Amino acid sequence: MHVVRVERVFKDYLLGNQIVQALANITLQVEQGVFLAISGPSGSGKTTLLNMIGCIDMPTEGQIFINDQEVTCLSSDELADLRSRTTGFIFQTFNLLPVLSAAENVEYPLLYRSDVSKEERKQRVKYFLNMVGLSKYMGHRPNQMSGGQRQRVAIARALAIQPAIILADEPTANLDKATGTEILHLMQEINQKLKTTFIFSTHDQRVVDMANRLVRVEDGSIQELGVRRGGEWAIARVQDYLAAAVARELDTSGGDARASLGIPAGGAH
Ligand SMILES: Nc1ncnc2c1ncn2[C@@H]1O[C@H](COP(=O)(O)OP(=O)(O)OP(=O)(O)O)[C@@H](O)[C@H]1O
Ligand SMILES: [Mg+2]
Repeated sequence: MHVVRVERVFKDYLLGNQIVQALANITLQVEQGVFLAISGPSGSGKTTLLNMIGCIDMPTEGQIFINDQEVTCLSSDELADLRSRTTGFIFQTFNLLPVLSAAENVEYPLLYRSDVSKEERKQRVKYFLNMVGLSKYMGHRPNQMSGGQRQRVAIARALAIQPAIILADEPTANLDKATGTEILHLMQEINQKLKTTFIFSTHDQRVVDMANRLVRVEDGSIQELGVRRGGEWAIARVQDYLAAAVARELDTSGGDARASLGIPAGGAH
């Protein structure tokens, strides 16, 4: 099953009187349980794509499905409800509430869940803070913790709703190298243990090295898709697919058209 399906999604932002096209015709399927890295240069649309998948923002055009449910047609209340059940978020700047303790930060998203009792909330807070190695820091506020510890709290908070998907927007960008690696290993361990789907946006090659799926975006479009099996990456360049499709089309419409586009006989590679 695909936990996320993005179908022909476009996203435009209005900046003054200019339209900025942040995403242009993105189609993507994400299988359950993968560790997916979305990489690409600054401004290529990584955060925008995560925000679409997380239903934080809506596409200008196209459809998004989460667990086969179309989300692009839901009301804002329905979206908030869906988010609170299915999607955990981890941000570059941790985004913890400064006046709350680690335990209260982890509990916070559960307060919106009428199906989770107070007792169950307390149990989950303990369980997930323990999972990220912070049992002793339950009462600490964010400014009494290191960057790595704050990101661990953010991971526990994301996990507490027991989501199908965790979206992480450059989660290692504000951490030193060693702490970043530790945090990545922790997320990989959680991915393997709980089978939670992780989708990262990243500039960090280490995230790509740990991932088993890769989406490379540029100028709002997918350039490459990668699947890793048994240590080896199989990378498909979208340009090649398009070129092959054009060549096939031209094969049926005659060699003259192919020659006029400079495509040699026998294929587009
Ligand atoms: N709220 C907004 N209003 C106007 N333009 C925006 C807005 N958010 C993003 N953009 C534009 O959309 C494009 C994609 O931005 P996005 O933040 O998705 O890139 P990114 O790949 O996450 O970059 P980075 O690696 O720097 O985080 C950029 O050109 C950006 O300027
Ligand atoms: Mg970004």
